Amino acid sequence: MHTTEELQELAQRHVWGHFSQLAPTNPAEIAVIERGEGAYVWDSNGKEYLDGLAGLFTVQAGHGRTMIAEAMAEQASQLAYFPLWTYTHPMGIELSARLAELAPDHMNRVFFTTGGAEAVEAAWKLARQYHRLHGEPGRYKAIARNVAYHGTTMGALALTGVEAIRSTFEPLTPGAIHVENTNRYRCAFCAAGPECTLQCADDIERAILREGPETVAAVFLEPVQNAGGCFTPPPGYFERVREICDEYGVLLVSDEVICAFGRLGTMFGCERVGSKPDLITMAKGLTSGYSPLGGVMVSDRVAEPFLGEGEMFLHGVTFGGHPVSCAAALANLDIFAAEDLTGRVMEHEAAFRGALDTLADLPMVGDIRGMGYFYGIELVKNRDTRESFTEEEGERLLRGLLSPRLFEAGLICRADDRGDPVIQLSPPLVAGPEEFDRIATSIRTALVESMEELSS
Ligand SMILES: Cc1ncc(COP(=O)(O)O)c(C=O)c1O
Repeated sequence: MHTTEELQELAQRHVWGHFSQLAPTNPAEIAVIERGEGAYVWDSNGKEYLDGLAGLFTVQAGHGRTMIAEAMAEQASQLAYFPLWTYTHPMGIELSARLAELAPDHMNRVFFTTGGAEAVEAAWKLARQYHRLHGEPGRYKAIARNVAYHGTTMGALALTGVEAIRSTFEPLTPGAIHVENTNRYRCAFCAAGPECTLQCADDIERAILREGPETVAAVFLEPVQNAGGCFTPPPGYFERVREICDEYGVLLVSDEVICAFGRLGTMFGCERVGSKPDLITMAKGLTSGYSPLGGVMVSDRVAEPFLGEGEMFLHGVTFGGHPVSCAAALANLDIFAAEDLTGRVMEHEAAFRGALDTLADLPMVGDIRGMGYFYGIELVKNRDTRESFTEEEGERLLRGLLSPRLFEAGLICRADDRGDPVIQLSPPLVAGPEEFDRIATSIRTALVESMEELSS
């Protein structure tokens, strides 16, 4: 086994981190996370961190769950691999049936993938083939929202509305259209008004009419939009979206790669926000990250034309519904049931919000928004005018000042600039008041020190 210094040297030479700069840094600054327990992880030097991001919005049941590890080991010994491709296997069947039980009543089928972007790709293709089977082959476009993140493969990236990570790879998959998101704090239509006018929802209708309804297959919306900093839907938003989708024959996809499995306090995020989707994409929390797995929940209506003699969804991936991952998901869902993790989030969400609200007196804190165990804190230069930081200032604040301080304080969270600068929080669902206090204290210290540094 290598020492920490050796691991850091090797990482410097051989690891190509995702969305990470390759330029050499001081190897001693590379964090090698080695072990986890509950809401905490430890690096190879033994330093403790509160995992305020659940890995990457993923480790719902917390770290160190031997019950999930044992279920995986047992499955690997019995049948490590077989595809859900021509054949089935017990774990894939058990998990599909369990998910059908947990999902909204009209959703009874699951198409498994290995992760979130693959789920989004599968949902888009499924929507396109569904329309073709209905005699509408011209419906190939998909609508998503500005700044929303849906993954990095070419189709999912086309749906992703973050210009900075798209433009390098253009041309992307054709047919992705972007509309307004639900950023109430900066809404071009009604931020200054007393209440939301739902023009953000109407923007979807405008896009459908502009493109031609006969060309639009689906709309992809997260229950709470992650990128940009936890944009919650205004009251009535998803009801209006459903009306629009029904009127123009467009399928509604709830991208719940983050928002499913208790993140918002319900098993599926759509339940919490009153959305009635035709498809749900999921990944991350499905296994709490113990093994890669994603999937698409499909409504009976969308599955129906595929039930015809000789029909099939023309799509597959080798590891979709991997037996070991399905075993991990089943054990994970057993933990959800035994510990009522969704109920726990509902019970504690006000305390989480309350802890974050203690930061509202800091001049740099513009907005605190989210729900469940999923919050964003938007940082501003001037709270009265809501003036944001320039790109350069934001970069210095997030990467130069805040991130190292939060890390030093032992808090893992995300300082994000895919929209305006925000701090993102999404702790494991086992976190409670002690962790909320630690999150608030660490952020306060880091913000106060960063403000002093910025103004000096
Ligand atoms: C809403 C949403 N969709 C899709 C994805 C892509 O998932 P993956 O990274 O597993 O491909 C993500 C990843 O964070 C996401 O947040």
